[in-house]
Amino acid sequence: MSLSFQNKVVIVTGGSSGIGQALVRRFLSEGARVATCGRHQDKLDALQKDLANDHLYTNIADVSEEEQCKAFIDSVIQRFGRIDVLVNNAGRSMRALFDDLEDLSVLRKLMDTNFWGCVYCTKYALPELKKSRGVIAGISSIAGYRGLPARSGYSASKFAMQGFLETLRTELLYTGVRVMWVCPGFTASNIRNTALDKQGHAQEETPLKENKLMTPEKVADLTFNAIIKRKRTLVMTSQGKLTVFMNKWLPSLTDRLVYNFFKKEPGSPLKK
Ligand SMILES: NC(=O)c1ccc[n+]([C@@H]2O[C@H](COP(=O)([O-])OP(=O)(O)OC[C@H]3O[C@@H](n4cnc5c(N)ncnc54)[C@H](OP(=O)(O)O)[C@@H]3O)[C@@H](O)[C@H]2O)c1
Repeated sequence: MSLSFQNKVVIVTGGSSGIGQALVRRFLSEGARVATCGRHQDKLDALQKDLANDHLYTNIADVSEEEQCKAFIDSVIQRFGRIDVLVNNAGRSMRALFDDLEDLSVLRKLMDTNFWGCVYCTKYALPELKKSRGVIAGISSIAGYRGLPARSGYSASKFAMQGFLETLRTELLYTGVRVMWVCPGFTASNIRNTALDKQGHAQEETPLKENKLMTPEKVADLTFNAIIKRKRTLVMTSQGKLTVFMNKWLPSLTDRLVYNFFKKEPGSPLKK
């Protein structure tokens, strides 16, 4: 892919907030035509109004529903005629110990959105991506390399996403399609407010000081650069890099360090 995004078509799922919205803005600023989706029309309308850009196309779609993914991808092809980059970004999180979950729907919802959403959108965009020799990217997480306490479904969904994308990268090795994933560390966004608690309700608070975290704009910059350089993967933040390194070489010590780190979080479910 050339470095210019003029006449390129980029899909970012979940672009109404956080990292997805920063990616939408970044790709638009590079001259791309950008399509995004989310579950809430009001948030998509607000984005359209704020950006007021003819190159932006939004459509309501819940990525956990296969038919909605197909309809969204088809509508992008109808609107823009091609797809050059698919960024599977839409995602949600949780905060509850597995043992405390009142039912397993929390894990199912996370797998449906974070894993199956990526699978569905990739499946329906793939024929166009093969024509354009484009890029499939997943927004994974450090939780995709290292299981994190109180996030069993989140970690499972991100491990699954990475296993799926790694397989796809290998299958598509000689097709010209590049498959990659990036792993942000803690990033300021709405994700901790919408994270599901043990009853499957949004926890509607964040235990972190959001203003101390990496900005979604920085994540979007790093992701954009990784895409144009057609990298295999990218782990962000020094804390994230250290966690992945330690987990590979000192896994038992890392169990204890990760446990202690998450136990210190305000309101940690580990403090019982
Ligand atoms: N923030 C972090 O610390 C962090 C760290 C590592 C990785 N990530 C990953 O980054 C990605 C973006 O998260 P974020 O932090 O930017 O969160 P966010 O601010 O909560 O944004 C999530 C976006 O995804 C959309 N979305 C959620 N569920 C959806 C569904 N079923 N179908 C379609 N759209 C859906 C949301 O819109 P609607 O609610 O309107 O659907 C919203 O636009 C996620 O995959 C997350 O796992 C985040």
